[in-house]
Amino acid sequence: MKKDLGVKPYLYPMPVLMIATYDEDGKVDVMNMAWGGICSSNMVALNLSEGHKTSENLKNTGAFTISVADVAHIKESDFFGIASANKMNDKFERSGMHAVKSEKVNAPIVEEYPLTLECKVVEIGNSVSGFRVVGEIVGVLADESVLDESGNVDPTKLNATAYDTFGRSYYTMGDKIGQAWNIGMDFMDK
Ligand SMILES: Cc1cc2nc3c(=O)[nH]c(=O)nc-3n(C[C@H](O)[C@H](O)[C@H](O)COP(=O)(O)O)c2cc1C
Repeated sequence: MKKDLGVKPYLYPMPVLMIATYDEDGKVDVMNMAWGGICSSNMVALNLSEGHKTSENLKNTGAFTISVADVAHIKESDFFGIASANKMNDKFERSGMHAVKSEKVNAPIVEEYPLTLECKVVEIGNSVSGFRVVGEIVGVLADESVLDESGNVDPTKLNATAYDTFGRSYYTMGDKIGQAWNIGMDFMDK
């Protein structure tokens, strides 16, 4: 028997995404975002509060990077979701992480995160779901340490984290259990 839990944003897993931008003085800001992800083959969608410093930066620079938070940096990543650069002048410095400017967009790349998409803002504004930004992916950078022999990202090496919206916790990702577009093929022959 199923229990009706009401209207809640309950899906799992949610991603743990780090949105990095520059402010008007070229200072790095990073924010934690669970409500975002891929929305087409070369685009990502971000759903965020317009009051965040990140939102102001996105309007000003038209660019951001989006990184996957790995297990090794989950404390720093959580901090990026607690503190706001609106109130904390040295938010990024406090994390002890490092950033360099992207060669493709006017946004910082946080060096410690293993997988980063470089994005240009192509749509920004209020939508039925709130303040929303669509970014075009113009580059993807991955640490060699997370690549397999063929040069593809190996999720088991990435050590990505998932956000649990039910209990507001972070989880590690599990093992590979099957090949997509393949493991279900048995049912096709019935
Ligand atoms: C796990 C987690 C997920 C979050 N997801 C979002 C999100 O999807 N959208 C959003 O607007 N804020 C989200 N936040 C809150 C922002 O990260 C937070 O308000 C942050 O301080 C904004 O930083 P900024 O003002 O420096 O941009 C999340 C925070 C945490 C801890």
